[in-house]
Amino acid sequence: MEGFKIGKKGSSLERVKYNRNDISLLTRGDGTEVLLQSIEKDRLFYIYPSDNPEVMEFYLILSGEVVCEVDNEKLVLGPQDYFSAKGLIEPIHFTALSNVTLLWVTTEPIFDSLSNEISSLMDVVKKVELKDHYTYMHSDRVANNAVKIAKKMNLNKDQVNNINTASFLHDIGKINIPEDILNKPTFLSDEEFSIVKKHPVDGVEMIKGNQYEEILPIIEQHHERLNGSGYPYGLTGDQILLESRIIAVSDSFDAMTEDRPYRKAFEPQFALDEIKRLVDIHYDKHVVEAFEEVLKEEGKIPDYLDASIAPLQPASTE
Ligand SMILES: [Fe+2]
Ligand SMILES: [Fe+2]
Repeated sequence: MEGFKIGKKGSSLERVKYNRNDISLLTRGDGTEVLLQSIEKDRLFYIYPSDNPEVMEFYLILSGEVVCEVDNEKLVLGPQDYFSAKGLIEPIHFTALSNVTLLWVTTEPIFDSLSNEISSLMDVVKKVELKDHYTYMHSDRVANNAVKIAKKMNLNKDQVNNINTASFLHDIGKINIPEDILNKPTFLSDEEFSIVKKHPVDGVEMIKGNQYEEILPIIEQHHERLNGSGYPYGLTGDQILLESRIIAVSDSFDAMTEDRPYRKAFEPQFALDEIKRLVDIHYDKHVVEAFEEVLKEEGKIPDYLDASIAPLQPASTE
């Protein structure tokens, strides 16, 4: 029938996968788009303010549950609950409590920007993670923990958002590092290490010129260390952005708690102790303290303040 269209389940005009969110464009017309978004459990997502105050965004939860943070209050929303935004001033944060599907209607076309810009950058990140066999989902985990640290430290929403995006893209420049160097089971030669050290600046070059300008210095500094021993510039202390100091802790923790070509993964407590040993040398004390709290709250390390799970006495040597 002219002017009428039926779509069967699973069909769409176009589809993009980004940050493990799956977004399908169901239909569009006169600037309005209707999208279907699937978000995996535990993922964070946001509604961003639009430059145009007249733009309206509407979301209907089809399945699953989300928790939404508004004015420091947490609200749980489930199937058939809905929310909308118009003239938003600050981004709104959501966390998926289970796998979630949302119907999303927006009066401003956004699908193309999601599909072109983000997906091409995310494609490169995925390529890096495939090349480096030991970093599968690395940027996802780094982003998740970095955002949790940032929230624990009460950073403002813009900073949290920037940390999230910068974490996803922090190692994008590794695309230029040959696979045999990335996966080398022994220590790198000076020459090989100098190639690895280029990835923060290469990443910035790749992202330059689009809407992510604010996160460029954060990415550039993610391997800087407080005592100046980091790279690429050997910055010290407060010269290093707080956002980068947060990503540095989350990044190092993830590197230690995953298998590497030359060793097995360390336990979270061991990795945290290593990071704590380098407080004020490599890592920011406040960042590490916030991260320790996050790990305790999530039960990833024991909370010794809780007497019921106090550590056992050291085994007797007798
Ligand atoms: Fe890196
Ligand atoms: Fe990394």
